[in-house]
Amino acid sequence: MFVSQRMSRIKPSPTLAVSARAAELKAQGQDIISLGAGEPDFDTPDHIKLAATIALSEGKTKYTVVEGTVALRQAIVEKFKKEDDLDYDLNQIIVSAGAKQVIFNAFLASLNPEDEVIIPAPYWVSYPDMVEIAEGVPVIVRCLPEGELKLTPDLLSEAITPKSKWLVLNSPNNPSGMAYSRKELEALAEVIRGVPHLNVISDDIYERLIFDGLKFATLAQVAPDLKDRILTVNGVSKTYAMTGWRIGYGAGPVELIDVMTTLQSQSTSNACTISQVAAVAALKGPQDFIKEWSKVYTERRDAAHEILSQTPGLHCFMPHGAFYLYPSCVELMGKKTPAGAIISSDTDVATYLLDSVGVAVVPGISFGLSPYFRISYATDTKLLLEGCHRISQAISLLR
Ligand SMILES: Cc1ncc(COP(=O)(O)O)c(C=O)c1O
Repeated sequence: MFVSQRMSRIKPSPTLAVSARAAELKAQGQDIISLGAGEPDFDTPDHIKLAATIALSEGKTKYTVVEGTVALRQAIVEKFKKEDDLDYDLNQIIVSAGAKQVIFNAFLASLNPEDEVIIPAPYWVSYPDMVEIAEGVPVIVRCLPEGELKLTPDLLSEAITPKSKWLVLNSPNNPSGMAYSRKELEALAEVIRGVPHLNVISDDIYERLIFDGLKFATLAQVAPDLKDRILTVNGVSKTYAMTGWRIGYGAGPVELIDVMTTLQSQSTSNACTISQVAAVAALKGPQDFIKEWSKVYTERRDAAHEILSQTPGLHCFMPHGAFYLYPSCVELMGKKTPAGAIISSDTDVATYLLDSVGVAVVPGISFGLSPYFRISYATDTKLLLEGCHRISQAISLLR
């Protein structure tokens, strides 16, 4: 009686569902290692917390303007200039409750029924559902292992139709951890240039989590002539371990930012005032801890990768960004568990790992590309390695 037709088109976030199931089993007293979460295990740095505490004691507890305080938008403009060599004016920036809301606003404010959104798979779980809520049509493009699971100009060209409105690029990628080079983005820009009705959301939320000396590149920087067709999305959640503070931002053409702001004015209003102050401290404060954290992330990645890539039946390429590994489990299909069940999907693999050795991973089906599963190495090192050993041991028992 209460459920709209709109809701029948969408499902709850599968990554949150995995965490919830793991938490439930843990609460029942089972020894569960969750490698499902998509958030840093580090705490928010003290100088950021302190800025929020001061803001609270100074009574900064009222509404702000919908699109975000001038101080925060100014800090964002400076960040884009300093780190990405991108020029934006204050009125080209919107601050929302996480990058998630920025992207949601963009789709809801811009899509007409049947407008198509090209989403390369594997993708972050929320894009297709957000498009569906906005009555658009997700067009999923399966990327290939031989292309490191990245979108190529050929795959993009094949997906474009007269109804294509948006392409979503996400680099470094959740779940694959792969990052586009400048050259790869230039090749995609060539295709985009020829299709004036195609716009791009560049989801750069893992920008600072890029390793092995690779240089981050984003489309607006690589193809400045396309800048007024690009919404560049970023936020403080992953870089500064601030997932719960809910601050994300978007930078793009004024017409788009204006309509997203109008939408937000009638839904949530401004992002949390205290969190906006904290985000200013994050963007303008010391950045050196990011290097230290990156060192920890890469050590964990290398150790986890070694265990998984030495596990017969798994193929795990080496990602250069974000904090995920995305091994292929295609060789496990058709195998039998010790209890006699046949593994026929990556969901079966995830279920088997949780039930047999208490390790929670997210099946590739959630990210639109099977059979794979995602593990997050934004997890305490000891637990991560124990989790990977358990995965390896459980897989060795399949016949
Ligand atoms: C690719 C990607 N984009 C956006 C988000 C949302 O980030 P936020 O916490 O800023 O809403 C996530 C979070 O998992 C993500 O992985």
